[in-house]
Parts: sequence; structure tokens; C-alpha cells
Amino acid sequence: MKAIRFFSGEDIPLERHKVRIVQKLELLPVEERQQKIFEAKNNLYLLKNRDVFLDMLTDSGVNAMSDRQLSAMIDADDAYAGSETYVELEAKVKELFGMDHFLPAHQGRGCEKILADLLVRPGDLLPMNYHFTTTKAHITRCGGEVLELLAEGGEICQSDDPFKGNMNVAALRDLLADKSRRIPFVRMEAGANLIGGQPFSLANLRETADVCRAHDVLLVLDASLLQDNLYFIKVRETSCRDTSIRELTRAIADCCDIIYMSFRKLGFAKGGGIVMRDNPLVGRLKELVVLNEGFLTYGGMSVREMAAVTVGLEETMDETVIAQGPEFIRYMTGELVRRGIPVVTPAGGLGCHLNAGQFLPDIPGEAYPAGALAAALYIAGGIRGMERGTMSEQRNTDGSEHISPLELLRLAVPRRVFTLSQIKYCIDRVHWLWENRSLIEGLRFTREPEILRFFVGELEPVSDWQDKLAARFRADFGDSL
Ligand code: F0G
Repeated sequence: MKAIRFFSGEDIPLERHKVRIVQKLELLPVEERQQKIFEAKNNLYLLKNRDVFLDMLTDSGVNAMSDRQLSAMIDADDAYAGSETYVELEAKVKELFGMDHFLPAHQGRGCEKILADLLVRPGDLLPMNYHFTTTKAHITRCGGEVLELLAEGGEICQSDDPFKGNMNVAALRDLLADKSRRIPFVRMEAGANLIGGQPFSLANLRETADVCRAHDVLLVLDASLLQDNLYFIKVRETSCRDTSIRELTRAIADCCDIIYMSFRKLGFAKGGGIVMRDNPLVGRLKELVVLNEGFLTYGGMSVREMAAVTVGLEETMDETVIAQGPEFIRYMTGELVRRGIPVVTPAGGLGCHLNAGQFLPDIPGEAYPAGALAAALYIAGGIRGMERGTMSEQRNTDGSEHISPLELLRLAVPRRVFTLSQIKYCIDRVHWLWENRSLIEGLRFTREPEILRFFVGELEPVSDWQDKLAARFRADFGDSL
């Protein structure tokens, strides 16, 4: 991809698209923002979207679609069985990944449920570079245990390691040689979400695949964040500079036995699916798709979404398209670093990740520093981020807190959605919070669900710190929003 340079020398990401449909946004005054976060029980998932100015909760299902995707949606062929739109999606997926079978699902966790139901038995061990929340929940539901084998340094927030999502191949080799536990598959996650959207290198994936093959263990790839990982391989892995995104996609697929993905991320639309080589498991997986997701030619997806995914997957092969997210995140991360604010570096995909552990070092894990920072940023700017730390963990079986090694506040940058001035506004409000961080204190649960508690759990601040924060905002910003 040829870079575009500014005469001024400024290093800012330039959009390679233009906006043709817009949605009006409202920014509430700070007092109302404080009231809304109170009503949402300090859980950002429970906010109404109309009360949010910049929705940086996730990149899932909220990426901007292209004109071509929208027009394909109108043209979709609707049928329960055998729709032409499904045939086109299946052909595109098989073409890009070079695999024999495609199984549709309503979204990523639908794939995870089916794979866990079929493959995971009580007592199994599941090695992976890093877990994702829904993946772990399905594996543990089936009695399996997740073992994270991230390469050394992957969990260090601030580093210059370009591939913090790499697998520790030596540890994997030892583990697979030691046959004391049943290991149904090894999982690699592209753009490892919970450590800040950090990629693995193609070289590391190939080594991982060699070890799996030597021990006859399946290698399963979670490709939900593949587009960011592809971009990082292209720009950071020297040996891949001259390889096209399409060739890289195929090289990655060649390493794997099964690939599943959320089309809410990959493909700029909504849905999910599994691709795999010929394998005796295919028939059983198909049965589970029909039982859980829907018939084999839609799997819970609407034909309109399938049409959009088919076009979106093809657009993912264009480096200028997939560069936009990582480039904006790189800009945002760099600006925060310049202001001395602790963020995950190198910048990953998906979003910019504030290191809440370092931002709020006096708040213990049990009082959820990243959750508190998320609530504070909503009060400070109407910005909705996502806690990715202890609150996103499940309690240990004895009821004690599982303190996450990373306390991150993820500020997702859904692809092609925000303008640079909106990103600058976000940087500005984070900066203001950094200057006023001594005002922020922790949260505690008032209602805590057992499974995936962060989605619908209810919390309250441990003191009146939110009153003080809103009052400081009013004092600093006068009567402006
Ligand atoms: N795997 C990864 C790596 C994910 O990031 C997600 C979703 C899933 C699986 C599950 O897919 O949502 O379609 O069921 N991540 C979203 C997020 C929820 O906000 O990061 P899904």
C-alpha cells in the first residue's frame, strides 16, 4: 500500500473513503451523564445508545458498511433452504480460506458453542495463546480448562514487541509431548482481543501448526479479528512485505484445521461461521448447526447480512480498507503516549486500550479499576468504552475474585465510523481524566450474575467520587458540554 504523505510532515491517518450516510449524535450535559450512568448501574452495557456520544464499546456489528455491501443486501435471495445468497457466501469463504466445508452460525459464540459441545469433555485441557470471554465460558461449561500459553512478554502492557499475540511454542511442544491430559484442540486467536488486539506472526502460527501436526492435535483458529492481524503481519513481518493480503489469508488458513469467525467483526456485517477441511467431524458439526443455529444455508443469519458479509470479506482483501482501523488506533495511541498516559503499546487492532491498572494504581483489582475508569470516561465525555479486566473474569470456584493480570479500558474504534476530530475529542477527555485521576475510586457489585457477569451485572461507586468528578468537570469546562 502506497503511503500518502502530508507536506507539513504531520503523521495523521487519512481516510480512504468518504461518508455518504450519517447518524446524528447528542452529547448530554455532564450532570445528565452522571445520572444516566447511575441509572445504568455503572455498567456501560446497560446505557441506552441515545445517551452515548461516542460509542466505543465494541467493534462488533457496528462497523460502517460500504456502498457495495448495502446494494448487495437489497439484491439478496431469500429462502430457508438453498438461497443463492448463501451459495455465494459459501463460495467466497471457501475461496479465501481454501477449505472444503463452510458451516454458518448466527455469530461467533454460536460457533464456539458448537465446537465446545462436540470437542470438549470434562477434564480436557485447552491450550491457547489467550482466551476470549465467550470462548472460555463455553469451554468451562463443557468441563474443559483453558490454559494460556502466550509467548513471554505478551501480557506486558507497554512494550515494543510487534507480535504480543504469539504462542509460546516451546511450552506448547512440552505440553503436547506430556500426554497426561486429553487435549482436544489447540486454539489460536487472531488479534488477541483481551490483551489489546495484539497479533501473532505468520512464522509463529506456522511453528504452532508444526507442533500440533507432530502430535496429531487439531489447530483451531478464531479469526474474528483476522483483518487486523493480516494488516499487522503485512506491515510488521519483514518476510511478508511482498505478500498480498489474499496470499497471507491463505497462508494462515493452510496452518489450521478449523477456522471460526464472528462476521460481526470480520466482514463488516453480522453473523458467524466455521470453515474446515474434510474431516469425520463435519457431519456431527452440521447436526449441531441445524439443532442450535438454523438450517445449513443460513445458520441464524438473515440473507441480507450474508450478502453484506460476502462483499465485506472480499473488501477485507484490500489493504487500504483494513488499514483504516489500525491506523486510527495507532494515531490515538501515539497521542496518548505523548501526553504520558498509560496505554497498551504497540497499538493493536480493534481499539485503543488504556492501562487502567497504571492509570488508577490505588484501586485494587477487587474494586475494578478498569470498570471505574469506564464509568468515569462516560461522565467526562459521554464516551462508552468497555472494561476488560477483573470484572470480565469469572470468579474462582471457591468464590474468590480471579484478579486479571491486565486491567484495560478498551476504547474500540469501529471501522470507518469515527472521524479524526471525534478521535481527538476522545483523546482530550481521556487527558482531562488523567489530570483528575485522583478523584476516581472503585466500584462494587450490587447484583452479580454467575456467568459473564460483566454483561448485565449491576454496580455502585464505593463513595461519592462521581459527584466530585462531575463537579470538577463543571468547574473546568464552565457551561459548555
Ligand atoms: N472471538 C473473539 C476474538 C471475539 O472478539 C468475539 C467477540 C467472539 C469470539 C464472539 O463473537 O460476539 O459474534 O459472538 N467479541 C466482541 C467484542 C463481543 O466486543 O470484543 P460474537
